[in-house]
Amino acid sequence: MKKIVIQGLGYVGLAMLTFCAGAKRKDKYLYKVIGVEKNSPKGSKIVQKINSNQIPILVDDKNFKNFYNKLSKKKRIKATLDKNEYSKADIVFVCSNCDFNFNKKKVELKSYINNIIQISKVIKKNCLIVIQSTLPPGTTEKVLKPLLKKNLIKRGVKNFFLSHSFERITPGRDYYSSMKNVERVIGGVDKKSTELTKKIFKSIFDLRSNKIISFKSPTESETCKIIENSYRATNIAFIEEWRKFCFENNLDLEKILDTIRQRKTHNNIMRSGIGVGGYCLTKDPLFTSAINQVLGYNSKFPLSTNAVVINNKMTSNVMSEIENRFKKKIYCKKVLLIGVSYKEDTNDTRFSPAEKVYNFLKSRDCKLSFYDPIVNYWEYSKGFSVDKKNLKNYDIYIYLVRHQSLKNLYIKYKKGSIILDLNHVLNEKKKLNISRNKNYKSYFIGSRIS
Ligand SMILES: NC(=O)c1ccc[n+]([C@@H]2O[C@H](COP(=O)([O-])OP(=O)(O)OC[C@H]3O[C@@H](n4cnc5c(N)ncnc54)[C@H](O)[C@@H]3O)[C@@H](O)[C@H]2O)c1
Repeated sequence: MKKIVIQGLGYVGLAMLTFCAGAKRKDKYLYKVIGVEKNSPKGSKIVQKINSNQIPILVDDKNFKNFYNKLSKKKRIKATLDKNEYSKADIVFVCSNCDFNFNKKKVELKSYINNIIQISKVIKKNCLIVIQSTLPPGTTEKVLKPLLKKNLIKRGVKNFFLSHSFERITPGRDYYSSMKNVERVIGGVDKKSTELTKKIFKSIFDLRSNKIISFKSPTESETCKIIENSYRATNIAFIEEWRKFCFENNLDLEKILDTIRQRKTHNNIMRSGIGVGGYCLTKDPLFTSAINQVLGYNSKFPLSTNAVVINNKMTSNVMSEIENRFKKKIYCKKVLLIGVSYKEDTNDTRFSPAEKVYNFLKSRDCKLSFYDPIVNYWEYSKGFSVDKKNLKNYDIYIYLVRHQSLKNLYIKYKKGSIILDLNHVLNEKKKLNISRNKNYKSYFIGSRIS
C-alpha cells in the first residue's frame, strides 16, 4: 500500500488528509496516510485534536463532518509533528502556507522554502511531490525544483517527481463538495510528473478525465491561480470605486448595477460590499511582487496590486461615510455586529472586514457585541456570540455577512436605533419597512439615502 504524507493541516491540508484517507477501490482503502504539522503551539494543538478523533478547525459542513468522523473512528486519520514521516512517503502533498508579509511588503518565500527543505532532507527515490500552496508564478520550476535536485543529489537520491496543482477549496457549508467535485489543474515539471499526479487525483477524488486540466508547466498552474484571484479582487475594487462616487452623489448604485446586469455580457457584475477578507484574496494578487525575484522578469501589475490597496481601504471608507452621516450618534453606543466571518456560510474569520468595523467603533468608545449563528467564538474580540434571544437592546445594529441562517432572522429593534446593512443581508421588503419607520435611522450599502 502506497504512503501519502500531507504537509500542513490547515483548511486545505485537513481536507486533503481526509480525502486521501477515504480513497477506496473495490471497498479497499488505497493509501496509508498521515499529516505532518509544524512544531509550534498551533501545530501541536492540531495534531493532538486529530489524534483524539476531533476535527481541528470549526467545520460547518455536515458532509465533511460525517466523512471525517467515519474515517477517524476507523483510525484512518492520523497526524504528527515528526518530519521523518516524509522519509516513508511515496507521495507528499504540500499544503503549508506561503504568506505575504504586509509590513515588509514581500512574499515570505524563505519560510516556504524551508518547508520544502524539510521534505528534501529525507524523501526517498521516486517520491512524487505535489505542491498545492498558492505561490508566485515560477516558484515550483525555478526555485523548488533546483533546490530539491541539489539536496537529493547530495544524499545520492537520483530521481523525484514534482508538480503544482492549486487548490480551490472554499471553507464553509460546501467544504466537502468544493474539494470533491472541482476540476483539478496540474502542471508537472515533466510529463511523467503530470501523469503521476493525474493518476493520484483520479484515485482520490474519483474524477473523470474531463475534470483534470493539465498544463505544460507548473508556472502555468501557479499563474492560473494568481490570475483567478486577482481577477476577482480587481472586480471588487472596480465596484468600490463607483460605490464611493454614487455615495457622494446620492445615486442608487444597486439599481444601476441591476440595470447593467440585464445585458447578458455583464450579468455577473459584482455588488457593493463592506470589504474583502479571507486568506486568499487579501494576499494572492500581491504575489505578483515576487515575480521579479523568482523569474527575473521585470514587470509591474498595477491593476492587481492597486485592487488590493483599494479593497483594503473599503471598510474604513464605508465606516467614515457612516460617521459623516450620523456624526456623534455613533459614539459611545451599544453596538451589535451581525455576522463576523469573512464571507457567508463559513466560520472562517481570517482578515474579516468585521475586524475593521469593530476597531473603528471601539475607537469611538462603543461597547460591541456580535451575533453569528456559525461563529460561536470570535478570536478577534475574544468573545462569544450573544444568544438569539438577546438581540433587542442595542443602539446600533450592523449587518455584515449574508449567512443563509440570517435570512429569516427577526429582530425587534430598539426604538431610536440605527440599522446598517453593509452587505445586502436584508431583503427589499425588510429594508423598506425599516426606512419607512420613523423610529429608526438606517443606511443600506449601495442604496440612495432617502
Ligand atoms: N483556505 C483556502 O480557502 C484556500 C483555497 C485555495 C488555496 N489555498 C492555499 O493553500 C495553502 C494552504 O492554505 P490554508 O488555508 O490551508 O492555510 P492554513 O494557514 O490554514 O494552513 C497551513 C498549515 O500549514 C502548517 N505549516 C506551515 N509550515 C509547515 C511545515 N514546515 N510543516 C508542517 N506544517 C506546516 C501551518 O501550521 C498551518 O496549520 C495556501 O497557500 C493558500 O493560499 C487556500
